[in-house]
Amino acid sequence: MPTIQPHGGTLVNRLVEGEQRERLMQTASTLPVIRVNNWTISDIDLIAVGGFSPLTGFMNEEDYQSVVERMRLANGLVWSIPVTLAVDEPTKGKLQVGGQAALVGEDDQVIYAILNVESIYEVDQANEAKKIFKTDEVAHPGVAKLYERPNTYVGGSIQVLNRPKRSKFREFYFDPVETRALFEQKGWKTVCGFQTRNPVHRAHEYIQKCAMEIVDGLFLNPLVGETKSDDISADVRMKSYLVLLENYYPQDRVFLGVFPAAMRYAGPREAIFHAMVRKNFGCTHFIVGRDHAGVGDYYGTYEAQEIFSNFTEEEIGIKTLFFEHSFYCKKCGNMASSKTCPHDKEHHMHLSGTKVRALLRDGQCPPPEFSRPEVAQILIEGMRELQPVKE
Ligand code: ADX
Repeated sequence: MPTIQPHGGTLVNRLVEGEQRERLMQTASTLPVIRVNNWTISDIDLIAVGGFSPLTGFMNEEDYQSVVERMRLANGLVWSIPVTLAVDEPTKGKLQVGGQAALVGEDDQVIYAILNVESIYEVDQANEAKKIFKTDEVAHPGVAKLYERPNTYVGGSIQVLNRPKRSKFREFYFDPVETRALFEQKGWKTVCGFQTRNPVHRAHEYIQKCAMEIVDGLFLNPLVGETKSDDISADVRMKSYLVLLENYYPQDRVFLGVFPAAMRYAGPREAIFHAMVRKNFGCTHFIVGRDHAGVGDYYGTYEAQEIFSNFTEEEIGIKTLFFEHSFYCKKCGNMASSKTCPHDKEHHMHLSGTKVRALLRDGQCPPPEFSRPEVAQILIEGMRELQPVKE
């Protein structure tokens, strides 16, 4: 197995199978129901397979408060993002501490898990917003999502009975036990994880390849869970990676697998969360570039890197590879950053997201120094098919 330990030392497995599952399915049908949306279903699944190790369920009040206030679980382990289950008043009325509940999909068809109700507690959402997102403005997509939920949370461990059906990218889903085994089979002693929610541009490629100069393998791990509606769709994101890998990457040194989590847009705090989860998948290294998991102007360009200095290397466990803002420099004639390029800004190619989208919408490719033509083509087609882009 890769040398890296999961966060907390043990890869959690909350999946129940065989006869025990049959028995619990019977039990579940008699329990009070908590309806869960796609976001929560993706949390359940990541808890089930140890992606969120050491979490064995939804956070109890003690862990929640500790995570919000000091970025640690109650036992002191680093954890930066609350993983919680919110319930409305009528549902709360059916629950009691020490009892159980069935977590059922919104279409009423699938019982995903049984929750052992260990605590029911009220939270101060404004405080959560300010601590996690550094703002309580509803214009922030993470804050908007938080405020959509009731402020009563239910905590407790879960036993998972069914996993979500995958309609897309089926061959790109891997559980942490599988990625760990795959990395071992490939003989990779060091593996760098790459989080992304965007199509792949030259700057992404540059930092990935810088990392590949250092480690044995690259784990490209595009997020395919819920994102805000104006992010490019997961379909297009994946297609852009497939075409790039085919043409520009050594096949034996890169592995592509999806990350089924929802995007929180919590910038610095989410960078830590992303790193911990990739450690669980067996990565030894993790890339944090400029404004990682950021949105708008809520976070400083390098805040998602600086936040790691609150912890020791041992506490984090996975090695971070920090990258400066990267760009193409016309004078250098290559990709660079302020660490490697001596030239003035006027020689650097900078295109805003708005400008790039405008070009693509008109069917025009951005310059090849910004996006590979093969990728640009996918983005143009994606714009045509998916206007407005929704996932
Ligand atoms: S994110 O929300 O998933 O972080 P994105 O897919 O754009 O967004 O970024 C993926 C990773 O690449 C992040 O670590 C981010 O910081 C990094 N990154 C994106 N663009 C650049 C760039 N121009 N220079 C350096 N790092 C970048």
